Amino acid sequence: MEIKVFDSPEEIASVCADEFTALLTSKENCVLGLATGASPVPTYKELVRRYNAGVISFKHASSFNLDEYVELPRNDKNSYYTFMHENLFNSVDIDEANVHILNGNAEDTAKECADFDAAIEAAGGIDIQLLGIGTNGHIGFNEPSSSFSDGTFKVKLTDSTIKSNSIYFTENAMPRYALTMGIQSIMKAKKIVLIATGASKAEAVKNAVKGEVTPMCPASVLQNHPNCIFLLDTAAASLLG
Ligand code: GLP
Repeated sequence: MEIKVFDSPEEIASVCADEFTALLTSKENCVLGLATGASPVPTYKELVRRYNAGVISFKHASSFNLDEYVELPRNDKNSYYTFMHENLFNSVDIDEANVHILNGNAEDTAKECADFDAAIEAAGGIDIQLLGIGTNGHIGFNEPSSSFSDGTFKVKLTDSTIKSNSIYFTENAMPRYALTMGIQSIMKAKKIVLIATGASKAEAVKNAVKGEVTPMCPASVLQNHPNCIFLLDTAAASLLG
């Protein structure tokens, strides 16, 4: 695990966008693992800027998103489908047919999850997986005590995640369940880039980087990944010593 610390979210975005730029310009049919939340927003802005400048194209790339809420209409303003289209997909040349976002309204969620893992395999596996981290150490929606051997699955969200994310749900109640790539699906990515900014992430980052590898801190499993970088600001890195 490589740790890099920066002064601002913009510097993190630039370095993270460099990772995606190197991939997009060297491998036409590359496979992107994408994340939602506030942490990757500056990176998506930078990728859109580079796309508009003619530096990168997503024309032949495919994407797989980490997670999606269950029983939230696809076009709800808080769905991760909406998030990804507003923050990235609507502004670049990605082919919608190559965009994969879990359907939280699928009748058979087990099939939806199994099909998602199969589609990742069929695409050749994820080249770079972008991650944020929850204040409780979750990655995707793999909450504390999630099994390290899970593929994509339906998860019941913890009170801590509901508390953190309910700030966005001003008009309707926040869903209590989500579909998420499991730890095993995430760990299969060839490269993982995790972004964490702000003091609220410092404890989770410390547990992930310095703590024991335990399902109680799902991000700690990343210590076992052969090609993983943490991009942190000084506040998120403040407890690393
Ligand atoms: C959500 C997402 C995670 C994300 C986390 C942190 O729960 N499911 O994928 O990493 O929140 O989000 P933020 O970057 O907004 O702090």
